[in-house]
Amino acid sequence: MPHSVLRYGADYNPDQWLDRPDILEQDIELMKKAGVNVVSLGIFAWATLEPEEGRFNLDWMRSIIDRLYEAGVSIDLATPSGARPAWLAHKYPEVLRVNADRKRQLFGERHNHCYTSPVYREKVRRMNQTLASNFGRHPGVIMWHLSNEYGGECHCELCQEAFRGWLKNKYGTIEALNKAWNAKFWSHDYPDFSYIESPAPHGEHTVHGLKLDWKRFVSHQTIDFMKWERDSIREIVPDAKVCVNMMYFYNGIDYFEMAKEIDLASWDAYPTWHKPSETLEQTAADTALMHDLIYSVKGEPFWLMENCPGPTNWQSISKTKKPGVNILAGMQTVAQGADGVLYFQWRQSQGSSEKFHAAVVSHDCREDNRIYMECAELGRILKDISFVAGEKREKQAAIVYDWSNKWALEDAQGPRNKGLGYKQELLRHYTGLRRQGVDVQLVNQDSDISGYRLIVAPMLYMLREDFAGKLRAFVENGGTLVMTYWSGVVNETDLCWLGDTPHQLTDVLGVRRMEIDAMYDGETRRCVGEGDELPSSAQGCLLCEVAALEGAMPLMVYDEDYFAGAPAVTVNTFGKGKAYYVATRFEPEFYVPLYRMICRDAGQSAWPGDLPEGVMVSRRGAYTFLLNTLPSAAGVVGVEIAPYGTAIFREEDGGMTCVYNQKEFKWSPVGR
Ligand code: GAL
Repeated sequence: MPHSVLRYGADYNPDQWLDRPDILEQDIELMKKAGVNVVSLGIFAWATLEPEEGRFNLDWMRSIIDRLYEAGVSIDLATPSGARPAWLAHKYPEVLRVNADRKRQLFGERHNHCYTSPVYREKVRRMNQTLASNFGRHPGVIMWHLSNEYGGECHCELCQEAFRGWLKNKYGTIEALNKAWNAKFWSHDYPDFSYIESPAPHGEHTVHGLKLDWKRFVSHQTIDFMKWERDSIREIVPDAKVCVNMMYFYNGIDYFEMAKEIDLASWDAYPTWHKPSETLEQTAADTALMHDLIYSVKGEPFWLMENCPGPTNWQSISKTKKPGVNILAGMQTVAQGADGVLYFQWRQSQGSSEKFHAAVVSHDCREDNRIYMECAELGRILKDISFVAGEKREKQAAIVYDWSNKWALEDAQGPRNKGLGYKQELLRHYTGLRRQGVDVQLVNQDSDISGYRLIVAPMLYMLREDFAGKLRAFVENGGTLVMTYWSGVVNETDLCWLGDTPHQLTDVLGVRRMEIDAMYDGETRRCVGEGDELPSSAQGCLLCEVAALEGAMPLMVYDEDYFAGAPAVTVNTFGKGKAYYVATRFEPEFYVPLYRMICRDAGQSAWPGDLPEGVMVSRRGAYTFLLNTLPSAAGVVGVEIAPYGTAIFREEDGGMTCVYNQKEFKWSPVGR
């Protein structure tokens, strides 16, 4: 897809304003002034587009598409399947979702239809094809926004049948399924596929293999529905480009799988900026991990499909963004590989559930409103830095993030059922690496890992045989692997590996797991180190694995409890590479010196070296972005970066030249 510009815009829902031509007029004017060049149109407009079954009302949309196009605003046209009209739910109750307790929902809300229902599929197909034949060839329509935030699950009879079919296809025989799920335990053997039911609170919910396969099926079925939507459009417009908006660490869909079926990945970011419990840099780091995941699912520039220019209305406390922070959030997105920054939504709704959710245009309809002014300023900046559009990112380090592993890990009934804080573990490694200026992407067990120099596998509880083989070859050929406690424990159907663990990697790591002790919240075990690179003392928490050294060199050891002296961090040379093992979870600060040492050993170059607290670095192609998350100016490599500002550097003749230094966005309520 050619990207000569950075895309900038919002969800646009003019169907809420059709009786207000003055508002629609102002929208176009304000979009032009704010530098908007794309909108996601009509995401929830089904009831306006088809007010009665089979009666389509498209004139309003035609006129809006034409006017947007004339104003230089392209259209990411939505299929409206995220919320169905009342007539559809009333006439065809099978489209309504059935909960895990087998109760069918009533009409209401959104994102709650059955993905299997042939009726829903047919109605969606008809709607999509109507849109495609009317607008699919319009020069303004550059992209299709498939539905909205696909998610959730349905337990109706249609879905049960589809699940049984999916299992039959996967296992072939019921004997193979019973074996894979270890169904003999508690006499849960299934005599036949027809006996299988999805997990239910009042039914089966202890067979881990069943629960894991149900999650895989739900992900599969949702992607199948998405493909149905995509293909219904492509029957009319074969070269139509499609995207979906993904969600923050959404558990229900394997986004690596979904990304294979779309042209553009995007996600919706709603960080809780200005939380007293964390710095802006910490909030930004959490968002950064998600940006990197979305970049990684396709390995290509993505869009931020939604973010909020001010306070949301659904967080427990919805704070405003301080002046400059909306621009900072947009710049961070671009720095991490986005070619589009969009908001939910263009204009604040006048009523209903999201009337107090900020939008680019607020209820006051004023262009000297702070939120609008800051959005317009970002529009100008994005135009100025359009030279980064389309730039891809170099492969340096990768963290393994695998949906099946996460599902199995969190459902395991193991040493800690109080929560394993998987994301906190990821963030520790991620932040440690990013502080070195190293670019991080995410991979799953199907990914090709050969281009990276460093692979980090935190809590890779479910380790597939083929992936263990890939890791072994990776280290053998000179790569650096970091693996943690509670890795290589089970196979892909959650059966424990027999023999030494981490499965197939004990010689690569030079350690063998003997046992694992779980810590209560707040409980820690002191560890000590003797080298000068790692801290001389640190605290292990959550899970303390007790491992036997089988060739590895200890870098930190436990210093208390019956396992004092056992290794807590080790390194082993294997083939041409190195493998580190981290046997417990340390405090977040520990991971900065850990990765300083590991990155240096792995030859990962860091630029510009140690950064001042509060300044984040991100590389994108030839460009390096330095983002100042502080409310005061920061001086880095001889350049002063404005409060909440960004400076962009370009690699030239072996050095770095500052090619853009953003001005501070200033705003004061006084004297207006
Ligand atoms: C998103 C959703 C939008 C809007 C937004 C509010 O999850 O896709 O339609 O509801 O949240 O923050």
